[in-house]
Amino acid sequence: MGTPVHKFDVVIVGAGLAGCAAAKTAQEAGLKTVVLTKLHPLRSHSGAAQGGINAALSESDTASHEFDTVKGSDYLGDQDAIELMTREAPQTIRWLEHMGAVFSRNDDGTIAQRPFGGQSHPRACYAKDRTGLTCLQTIYEQAHRAGVQFLDEWYVGDLLYDKSSDQAYGVVAYSLKETEFAIFNAKAVMFATGGYARAFGINSNAHANTGDGLSILARHGLPLEDMEFVQFHPTGLAGSGILISEAARGEGGHLYNSENERFMEKYAPSKMELAPRDVVSRAIEKEILEGRGVGPNKDSVWLDLTHLPEEIIETRLPELRDLAITFLGRDMAKERILIRATAHYSMGGIPTDIDGRVRSGAERKVSGLYAAGECACVSIHGANRLGANSLLEAIFFGRRAGEAIVQDIGQLELREAIGTESDRLSGEVSALLRNNGPDTVHAIRTDLQQSMTRNAGVFRTRASLLEQKAYLATLRDRFSQMRVGDKSKLYNTDLQEALELGHMLDFSAFIVEGALAREESRGAHYREDFPERNDERFLQHTFGTMDPSGKIALEYTPVTLGRHTPQARTY
Ligand code: FUM
Repeated sequence: MGTPVHKFDVVIVGAGLAGCAAAKTAQEAGLKTVVLTKLHPLRSHSGAAQGGINAALSESDTASHEFDTVKGSDYLGDQDAIELMTREAPQTIRWLEHMGAVFSRNDDGTIAQRPFGGQSHPRACYAKDRTGLTCLQTIYEQAHRAGVQFLDEWYVGDLLYDKSSDQAYGVVAYSLKETEFAIFNAKAVMFATGGYARAFGINSNAHANTGDGLSILARHGLPLEDMEFVQFHPTGLAGSGILISEAARGEGGHLYNSENERFMEKYAPSKMELAPRDVVSRAIEKEILEGRGVGPNKDSVWLDLTHLPEEIIETRLPELRDLAITFLGRDMAKERILIRATAHYSMGGIPTDIDGRVRSGAERKVSGLYAAGECACVSIHGANRLGANSLLEAIFFGRRAGEAIVQDIGQLELREAIGTESDRLSGEVSALLRNNGPDTVHAIRTDLQQSMTRNAGVFRTRASLLEQKAYLATLRDRFSQMRVGDKSKLYNTDLQEALELGHMLDFSAFIVEGALAREESRGAHYREDFPERNDERFLQHTFGTMDPSGKIALEYTPVTLGRHTPQARTY
């Protein structure tokens, strides 16, 4: 019997905020929509976003939300997209609220907003420190109610894509429970597969954030944009990298080094701890590198909230308090906690237009293919994202991609898939199960993550990136013989992790190539050998494509500028 082919109008990969928002929109317009997810939807990484979702709820703040985002992006964000998203942000909050999302309130009943980094006004709406989960529960429930079919624990490993006509028409997946393959054939395919910060040793990301969607597209020769821009969040718990929300600094937390200095005075005297994440992360790492770190290994700094009333911590930051008690054994209401920068967010990804349509080149779009959320690069965040803009982006552009699908569907033909089109993925799985080399997934993944942190992390140089490029080639050789210990078909997580590792190796090569070629420092990409921003050469987006041998070619496309002309970026 051949691989079963299931037919839908729309297949969406990933059940985080972007996927659920698009699915709800498409299903409500009468399109038969399925969402495939390797997790339960409520375990999607959107649910881990703690501190807030930005919106200029007072009219007078809209223009500054736009400007803060452009400046935060170090002028690499596309200003048409930024203008659109920030203008529509209050409407996005109302959409969530009308569906039942419960935001924290001021005493007068209005939605409470807290300060976040790089912003000129407090505009992060929040639900205590569980904002992402609150939004996700709301949209997931409403998508379910609309009749969207959710298939949990299905692993999508390939895209059905015809290069000659530049058309996508489905995906190939297998059930994690039994390793049974199936084809999902549709007129419209959307990727909402999340980010790629798990390529780094210390990161705040869920185990599932292995960038599968990006590498799946790249293996078909489709481009990835601005992959060198990876955000390090300043406050990950020491050792684990688990996120301690920027809300901790938004509510008044201070950072101290071993000399008890509030060291941000040296780096961002006007914004201090509420400078953007790239600035604060570099400051923390510099303090540690110059010997002013704290903790048993002197590789952390202090985050101090002990001067805040306990009631603030209890009512606005309860999750953070629990996390620090559980993972550090320290109660932030009573003592300082140890933190360090942690890889957190991917600014780069699958290039799309402002309606989520995937671009296959500077001027071309793939028929029937859409992307939104962290896997996509619209580009809102440019070289550095402002905190609390990611929930907004995922929901706003997820919904917009759903609307674009509804608009396009009449012109999209269902190209019939045939059962043998699963052969590529089933062949990959068979090869992984057959190999019996000396290495395990764990060994290669650990080496990948540690080397990416060392050579392509907060600080980069040509030498470190060349070293990483060569090292990635050796990891790929080891991967080709790697042993998957579990050879069974039942819930084979070892196999799943092996497939995910293949994706991590592929997209890591894009990060390194992009970083090597970008001989400047901009936002989260900091080259010690090129410490200045260079607008003349690099006020451009990187587009990378991979050939079948794994070689990556780069080209550059213009940034969409608007009324904000690039200026020196100081805080
Ligand atoms: O710090 C945080 O709460 C994270 C939010 C974000 O990444 O937008």
